[in-house]
Amino acid sequence: MPTATAPIPNDQEAFWLPFTPNRAFKHAPRLIARAKDMHYVTPDGRAVLDGIAGLWCCNAGHNRDPIVAAIKRQAAELDYAPAFQFAHPKSFELAGRLAALAPADLNRVFFCNSGSEAVDTALKIALAYHNVRGDGARTRLIGRERGYHGVGFGGMSVGGIVSNRKVFGTLLAGVDHLPATYSREHQAFTKGEPDWGGHLADELERIVALHDASTIAAVIIEPMAGSTGVLPPPKGYLERLRAICDRHGILLIFDEVITGFGRLGAAFAAERYGVTPDLLCFAKGVTSGAVPMGGVIAREHIYDAFMRGPEHVIELFHGYTYSAHPLACAAGLAALDLYRDENLFERAKTLEPLVAEAAMTLKGLPGVLDVRTVGVAAGIDLASRPDAVGKRAYEIMARAFHDEDLLVRIAGETLAIAPPLIVSEAQISEIFEKLKRAVRAVA
Ligand SMILES: Cc1ncc(COP(=O)(O)O)c(C=O)c1O
Repeated sequence: MPTATAPIPNDQEAFWLPFTPNRAFKHAPRLIARAKDMHYVTPDGRAVLDGIAGLWCCNAGHNRDPIVAAIKRQAAELDYAPAFQFAHPKSFELAGRLAALAPADLNRVFFCNSGSEAVDTALKIALAYHNVRGDGARTRLIGRERGYHGVGFGGMSVGGIVSNRKVFGTLLAGVDHLPATYSREHQAFTKGEPDWGGHLADELERIVALHDASTIAAVIIEPMAGSTGVLPPPKGYLERLRAICDRHGILLIFDEVITGFGRLGAAFAAERYGVTPDLLCFAKGVTSGAVPMGGVIAREHIYDAFMRGPEHVIELFHGYTYSAHPLACAAGLAALDLYRDENLFERAKTLEPLVAEAAMTLKGLPGVLDVRTVGVAAGIDLASRPDAVGKRAYEIMARAFHDEDLLVRIAGETLAIAPPLIVSEAQISEIFEKLKRAVRAVA
């Protein structure tokens, strides 16, 4: 037992890793010590090519000098300013930049610290919005099967991943789900948005008929479901969902935690698809992963609905100690500068066909059931071994890291690829060549 004066052993027991099989990890740890641009570096000096932008977040690459410098400067100038009743200049500057980046009148920005908080914030704004307008019976929230919206109780409830839900009780009441948009039978090996599935948006009409529109506050979806394996929206799906929401006075929330900041070749998926949600959740890429930050961008009429009553009274009883943290704002401004100066969103659009081409070369490999691509992202479904769902993907991920010096992400029996947007054409080939070797080796 270590005492106050005895040295504390540097072992791996104390740390309970998130979303990780702890015992397997601690038998064969995958450790990362440093990073630069497209590579991680292990403690023993191996350079590992980053095929997943950290965790879908480092869109400008790693340890970029302008972001590092901005964080250093900010830490020396202002460590923290109270988030409630006070503010600091960079919070306004970043909000303004985000409003300018987001389409249409998505112009009011509420800051928090993660994607999960962004989702819970958006759900709370939706409920409160109806309430302040005297439409307080609208309390139901509609999510989607296979949706991932983080790990708060709100996000879990509207999310559609059984393992993330089943041991955590009854979750929020009054939640219903749209069906997932994926069908292997109709969509296998599609590049971009599948032709089949737009009609699945009409399932919202069924849900409205069941509960009545007067009880429904909002629908939340990821425009492209990332965490359950890169599921691009079927053609016409988002437009139909928008029209149904409009018809029934239901707010539409896009969770753009993964799709924001260039992943799909535009600032936001809302721009790529020409569909404007009422509320847009962001996180991850806003600081290129360098400092935790998330937020919600609201359309002006949503914000305006709250701006009533005596001026000294708080309009929305919600916020976080670290909302618009100075370090996050500084990193965010520097990341947005990099995205703009290096045309990284435009670059992602140019790379999209190359990623699709390279990813499709996995078709026909043993155990590969489907490959999907959109923007700078690919999902590869694998056949599960009997009684060992997820094991094949886990072994490929571990093998890619240890033997191929490649970082990939897994979700169940799906591999996900989404490198930083600075990835070179040669590195795109390298990622998929390494991955193919790992897939073959594990088959
Ligand atoms: C679409 C989506 N929403 C929410 C989250 C949760 O974000 P965080 O892990 O920052 O809470 C994620 C994380 O991957 C995500 O992909």
